[in-house]
Amino acid sequence: MKILKTTQSLQETLGSIQGLVGFVPTMGALHQGHLSLIQKSLEENPVLVVSIFVNPTQFDNPLDLEKYPRSLSNDLSLIKQIAPDALVFTPSVSEIYGNTVDAKEYAFEGLDRVMEGASRKGHFQGVATVVEQLLNLVKPDSAYFGEKDFQQLQIIKKMVAQRKYTTTIVGCPIKREPDGLAMSSRNQRLSSEQRLQAPLIFQALQEAKSLFQSQNTAAAHRHVEALFAAQSQLNLDYFSICSEENLMENQLDKPEKVRGFIAAQLGEIRLIDNLKF
Ligand code: PAF
Repeated sequence: MKILKTTQSLQETLGSIQGLVGFVPTMGALHQGHLSLIQKSLEENPVLVVSIFVNPTQFDNPLDLEKYPRSLSNDLSLIKQIAPDALVFTPSVSEIYGNTVDAKEYAFEGLDRVMEGASRKGHFQGVATVVEQLLNLVKPDSAYFGEKDFQQLQIIKKMVAQRKYTTTIVGCPIKREPDGLAMSSRNQRLSSEQRLQAPLIFQALQEAKSLFQSQNTAAAHRHVEALFAAQSQLNLDYFSICSEENLMENQLDKPEKVRGFIAAQLGEIRLIDNLKF
């Protein structure tokens, strides 16, 4: 495994290697979800680049950025166990942004205005900025993203199409804990009491799916709202049933492309999840 801290060392190393390049961008605090992306990349490409970079421009809340879990040495040993030949890019903020730590402006045809985009101002502009910069540096054949951040995945696909990048964006299934909680770096911050409440999110999505299929959207909404109202710790930010293609709630005409999404606040921690309906 090679750890590369500068764009120059990354590009020199990539320049001396042959073969398809798979790329897994992360913000560290790796879990089985990230490792499944690495595994998928290894199955499809001889060369693997993993980036570990906590991107400041995608946080609208300075406290959230400060408290984002960081565990570089553990991350490196997890990567080494499954990908001993990986190139791990761990740039500093100035290596990525120079002196101006700002997001660029993108227009994503409304994909960035709903759900996470409505609740977290500027979040997707920050995500797109860093992903575009990383794609320009790594120039991967394929890049791998988890479906837990389904909206992010759709926005990155849109950005890649708009900019005509040749990288294939691959979405990978959500990894879950045995009780259904979607794996997330943020789960580490949950207290043991909060951790017991968190699986309600996936339970709500499953029950909403069955009501959506047997009855309708309104029945699914009523049920999710009642489930969250019946307890005091998890605050529902949104429950949305949308088209996977354009993330619009009123365009559910392709039943095979409908998905339910939940965001909820548990103390200081924001959790999101989604399920194909
Ligand atoms: O999903 C993430 O971990 C981040 O949003 C990403 C794609 C690495 C960009 O910082």
